Amino acid sequence: MSLVTPHELLLGSPEPTAVAAFNVILLEHVEAFLAAAEERSTGLILQLSQNAVRYHGALAPFGRALLEAARRSSVPVAVQLDHADDIDLIGEAAALGFTSIMFDGSRLDFAENLARTAALTTELHRSGIWVEAELGEVGGKDGVHSATARTDPAEAAAFVAQTGVDGLAVAVGSSHAMTEQSASLDLELVRVLRDQVPVPLVLHGSSGVGDEVVRDACHAGIRKVNLGTRFNVVFTAAVRDALAADASVVDPRRYLDRGQRAMATEAARVLDLLNQG
Ligand code: G3H
Ligand code: ZN
Repeated sequence: MSLVTPHELLLGSPEPTAVAAFNVILLEHVEAFLAAAEERSTGLILQLSQNAVRYHGALAPFGRALLEAARRSSVPVAVQLDHADDIDLIGEAAALGFTSIMFDGSRLDFAENLARTAALTTELHRSGIWVEAELGEVGGKDGVHSATARTDPAEAAAFVAQTGVDGLAVAVGSSHAMTEQSASLDLELVRVLRDQVPVPLVLHGSSGVGDEVVRDACHAGIRKVNLGTRFNVVFTAAVRDALAADASVVDPRRYLDRGQRAMATEAARVLDLLNQG
């Protein structure tokens, strides 16, 4: 169908439904998520993080494949460079045709984060790119394993007004890379942020959040739900089972396919959850 920006997906996803944003590492992720989205006839965001780019050693080979897969999909797909702070990489993603960039300035102090985000947003908007920013670190990245970080509503409102960003990642109790759904969210803070911040709120680290709480968060005002680790958990478990079941297997297609199908099943389940509101 078409490569779109998250804006178009958000327009088609009224509250309390939310747009799914799934992190990809391998082509198996891309194929699994697109298969699930097509089966459910729903759009989604595919996200490639700066860390995943580092894993591949370069952006262009995988990034071009990702964009081409998105363009060929029968559902609308946005492609985001996620958690990026490398300005050269951001420029490369923009030139390649990524429709969304998350600038992660959460480790900078407020003034520096604001200044850099504002400059970048102005630049990226010239190319029609949707820009997400983060204020108040979501716990768990690079060893900062704290779900206690919180986004201040007044700061968030000022930040959005002065930067012109299109979406804001908020720290409300979730933490990246959790393998169990045990996070509890500050839903009252989500409501306050929704009322004070005029752009879509993004929940990061959603793998650690149970289904019911995700739904509550969407009812409270979360509009984009970022999910990565959950898929790697089911992928790895399925691959491990396949390898254990046949010690003689050597063709990766035989076991990666099992992992891919497990991710597609989980992706379809999450899409249903977010679409039902
Ligand atoms: O930006 C990506 C997400 O926040 C994914 O976090 O891997 O903990 O689900 P997660
Ligand atoms: Zn994140």
